[in-house]
Amino acid sequence: MPNDRDRTDDSIRFILNDSEVTLSNVAPTATLLDYLRLERRLTGTKEGCAEGDCGACTVLVGRLAGDKLVYESVNACIRFVGSLNATHVVTVEHLAARDGTLHPVQQAMVDFHGSQCGFCTPGFVMSLYGLWLSNDDPSRADIEKALQGNLCRCTGYEPIVKAAEAAANARPSANFDPITAARDETIARLKALRPERTITIRHGEHCLIVPADTAGLATALAAHEGATVVAGSTDVGLWVTKQMRPINPVIFINGIAELQNITESEAGLTIGAGVSYSTAFAALSSAYPAFGRLIDRIGGEQVRNMGTIGGNIANGSPIGDSPPPLIVLGATVTLRSTEGVRTLPLEDFFIAYGKQDRKVGEFVESIFAPRLPTDELFAAYKLSKRRDEDISALLGAFRISLDGDRVKGARIAFGGMAGTPKRAASVEAALIGKPWTEETVRAAQAAFEADYQPLSDWRATSTYRLLAAKNLLLRFFLESAGETAQLRRFEGVV
Ligand SMILES: Cc1cc2nc3c(=O)[nH]c(=O)nc-3n(C[C@H](O)[C@H](O)[C@H](O)COP(=O)(O)OP(=O)(O)OC[C@H]3O[C@@H](n4cnc5c(N)ncnc54)[C@H](O)[C@@H]3O)c2cc1C
Ligand code: FES
Ligand code: FES
Repeated sequence: MPNDRDRTDDSIRFILNDSEVTLSNVAPTATLLDYLRLERRLTGTKEGCAEGDCGACTVLVGRLAGDKLVYESVNACIRFVGSLNATHVVTVEHLAARDGTLHPVQQAMVDFHGSQCGFCTPGFVMSLYGLWLSNDDPSRADIEKALQGNLCRCTGYEPIVKAAEAAANARPSANFDPITAARDETIARLKALRPERTITIRHGEHCLIVPADTAGLATALAAHEGATVVAGSTDVGLWVTKQMRPINPVIFINGIAELQNITESEAGLTIGAGVSYSTAFAALSSAYPAFGRLIDRIGGEQVRNMGTIGGNIANGSPIGDSPPPLIVLGATVTLRSTEGVRTLPLEDFFIAYGKQDRKVGEFVESIFAPRLPTDELFAAYKLSKRRDEDISALLGAFRISLDGDRVKGARIAFGGMAGTPKRAASVEAALIGKPWTEETVRAAQAAFEADYQPLSDWRATSTYRLLAAKNLLLRFFLESAGETAQLRRFEGVV
């Protein structure tokens, strides 16, 4: 990949550690990991799984959010080079001082014996560094959350957690840390790199497009029917690294500021399609606490920093975690193209397995979730084989409104129970108008069999899925009725 120092609209420009990179010949499927290791010989960043699961490839990517500079841990193995325009990529080689003095997070890993074979260590160091930058007093839960996306086969996690605790207090001086020392300069450099026009790079038969705004995105989609839109690439990355699927042309949308907004009003939350799980966390947790807790169960920190709610909807997966709670909240999705804008209820967007109501040339612009009245009950439960970094076997979302002790309204939706995220219409009908009691709930459980005929696959059998869905309704009732003592027996499976 030859470097070209001239600024044009046919190159990707970003900062790598402390030097600026301009790439005008880059394949749409080139990953950041391959670029670092093969082109730049920055081999501190490792390849473990190449699918976003192990964290060995963790680097930090800094980006401007408004005028603020935010650094986030990401998986370089599934991050495409084409998505890096106007960012600051920081690898493990950047941490130690020029005289070789280790950064506090590196030194703490040495002091607390946080490494044995060492293969996972650079990835852990970068996740710890991301935490060190954003939180100088992390709780044990904060540390565990920051490390959710890093796997270690030999050391065990306790020494690494201790290293994180020790590093939090080790801040010799502002200028010691390379990111902190250069913060103002980096902001100015990134502002200068923001694209004003669509970037288009042709690489042989392949074409990579980076629109500067949503108008440019609509134009690009109209001109390139069948182009692959890439937001966080936490799904599309695996099409390339695991399925070797050709994707061409590719349109990268993660840099479009208009898609990054969350707007709060009395009516509800409007979430831009490019908002990541990490960015959405605060607003969603505050409006719907159960939704916030669910986000903590999506992927690991790196996946939440990259993956978007827009991508979780547009991928059409029947086991995406955000559609069921959004459907019970009554969310709508807004689609845009050069022809205009249309908005439809999210539940109508999912037509059949792999088929959505998205016309050629349309992209998902935003999702609107109405506020939940304070007297309504709402919960979402995810069942997966592992607590962290695992896709749901099934996920149930429940919302009930009461009139006295009777059920006035019921909205229940599940992922993993059908070819699409789907409402449980018969269960809802079996609850509405009845007293909100265990007897009603137990009677309504049978109606799940009318709503769903789930598949058996390696995540769960059909029998397990139906039984678990019935039990989740009971759990929701018991929780809402405050029967915490009875709930304990359910905790092991959720
Ligand atoms: C290790 C790992 C763990 C994961 N864990 C979970 C999990 O726990 N729960 C879960 O639900 N998912 C999980 N996922 C899947 C993935 O993270 C989510 O589906 C995520 O929300 C996808 O968003 P993205 O921005 O990365 O989408 P991308 O990969 O960029 O795109 C996904 C699809 O959506 C399309 N698309 C994206 N944005 C738009 C748009 N604005 N308009 C039109 N089309 C668009 C793309 O063309 C593509 O078809 C995991 C993935 C990994 C790698
Ligand atoms: S190599 Fe495992 S997450 Fe990237
Ligand atoms: S030290 Fe060997 S995998 Fe973590």
